[in-house]
Amino acid sequence: MKARQIAAGVFALGAIDWDRRLFDSLIPLPDGTSYNAYLVQGSEKTVLLDTVDPAKKHELLAQLASVPRLDFVVANHAEQDHSGALPDVLARYPEAKLLASTKAKGILLDLLEIPEERIVTVDDGEELSLGDKTLRFIHMPWVHWPETIVTYLSQERILFTCDLFGSHLAASALYADEGSVYEPAKRYYAEIMMPFRRAIVRHLEKVKELDPALIAPSHGPIYQRPAFIIDAYADWVSAPPRNRVVLPYITMHGSTGDMVERLVGALMERGVAVEQFNLTATDIGKLAISLVDAATIVIGTPTVLGGPHPSVLAAAHLASALNPKLRFASVIGSYGWGGRAVEQIAGIISCPDIEMIAPVLCKGLPREADFAALDSLADTITSKHKEMGFV
Ligand code: FEO
Repeated sequence: MKARQIAAGVFALGAIDWDRRLFDSLIPLPDGTSYNAYLVQGSEKTVLLDTVDPAKKHELLAQLASVPRLDFVVANHAEQDHSGALPDVLARYPEAKLLASTKAKGILLDLLEIPEERIVTVDDGEELSLGDKTLRFIHMPWVHWPETIVTYLSQERILFTCDLFGSHLAASALYADEGSVYEPAKRYYAEIMMPFRRAIVRHLEKVKELDPALIAPSHGPIYQRPAFIIDAYADWVSAPPRNRVVLPYITMHGSTGDMVERLVGALMERGVAVEQFNLTATDIGKLAISLVDAATIVIGTPTVLGGPHPSVLAAAHLASALNPKLRFASVIGSYGWGGRAVEQIAGIISCPDIEMIAPVLCKGLPREADFAALDSLADTITSKHKEMGFV
């Protein structure tokens, strides 16, 4: 892929990773991803913003072959999918200084082989003149890690946001097709950004004040209509949860599955939207997306060796760690002779923002009394959603 111009003296570089299917050995990438870097050539200085994953460094270095001098490289974020090619770039351009936040400096030195004297730290709001262009560095901690910054090119009003507003989407188009990018961007938010949604509420105000003409993230396409992704984020981080239940579950011999079927039907009859996920088959990214808007999670589990099924434990941990806007939680499931499934799940899910609703457990096969208890659980969830005004 060759460098592509997005404004006078501003170029999109980087690599499209069409075939990558897993990130952090955890996150499914059904649509691949990209690692975007950007080159800004002022009348006096030239800057590279971010680099690429080490697996794609040869592509970035080939794109830079026609660039004789780099004065600065900016590390908006220290994670290796953006910083991993920094040692090679800095070796190619011995005159270049690496600009990063103070916190990023420490992390970069921990993660990569970079001489400390090459790094210059930048303060929040600090500006760098490139001659006829000016870059402003804005600290935005926790848009993914604590060290993150975004970089604003004042004259062209381009905001380079690295992970923030990104999407794991491999696409040949440089600019976002809003219909196509919405779900990958929401998936990305759910998996990467949602744990930090309270910080993002504040950061969105800063972004709106900048009034960028383009938002150029380092994953996925560039937004020519920044309001599209800003408004989507505002909804995801701040809007009240919807009248929706997420139901991840495992069934081993069918009892818990029968209970899930009954509860889902009962909720549907009462006008509550439901998304159920069989954890033996689901893409956990889909589960994460559904957690963005849901008011309630009900976890379905059989009892295995005295506790929840291990896949259920993992899903409960993920749902808790992602810090969604959930307000209610419950557990349903079947056991043979005892166990502590509910206590273990509650121990993971519980937090001051989430009210635990009484579980429905049955011994062996669910019978009429168990189905009635599930109908009652559906009544409780429905009335709690109504009381909260969730629609
Ligand atoms: Fe795309 Fe947090 O790295």
